[in-house]
Amino acid sequence: MIRICFVCLGNICRSPMAEFIMKDLVNKKSLQDKFYIVSKATSDEELGNNIYPPVQAKLREKGIPFDEQKRVCCLVEDDRDKFDYIIGMEEYNVQRIERIIGKSSNVYRLLDFTNHPRDVADPWYTRNFEKAYEDILEGCEAFLNYLMAKEKISN
Ligand code: 4NP
Repeated sequence: MIRICFVCLGNICRSPMAEFIMKDLVNKKSLQDKFYIVSKATSDEELGNNIYPPVQAKLREKGIPFDEQKRVCCLVEDDRDKFDYIIGMEEYNVQRIERIIGKSSNVYRLLDFTNHPRDVADPWYTRNFEKAYEDILEGCEAFLNYLMAKEKISN
């Protein structure tokens, strides 16, 4: 079982988008039994809230199933050993993750798995949910390819 935690600041936009895009990619390869995938926040500002409505709308538009009851959950120090991969959306998330769990070799930035390493554009500020979706899809596809090779997964 490969245990993955996607992380952003609020856990209402980017990391839940990554969680459900990744689950969809994994389901389409019939690999769901090999993965445990969640998402969490580095801030408690949105604690208990649902996925931000424009993100829900984007996931519906793209035909990606998601949990309408998903609530914001905060990353805690113990998570360091509960996940094989802790994936931040941007460099700032990675710094905040390391402040919570300490420096750890299982922490990555999502788009570092692509050929164009960069931060995921933050739709909270850009209001561009399509761009965030495209960035995250590119990152999740590259991350899954990396995992399939590294963890020797076949389908
Ligand atoms: P997320 O987006 O980190 O992708 O969930 C944000 C959500 C809330 C805020 C910023 C980003 N905020 O400042 O409240």
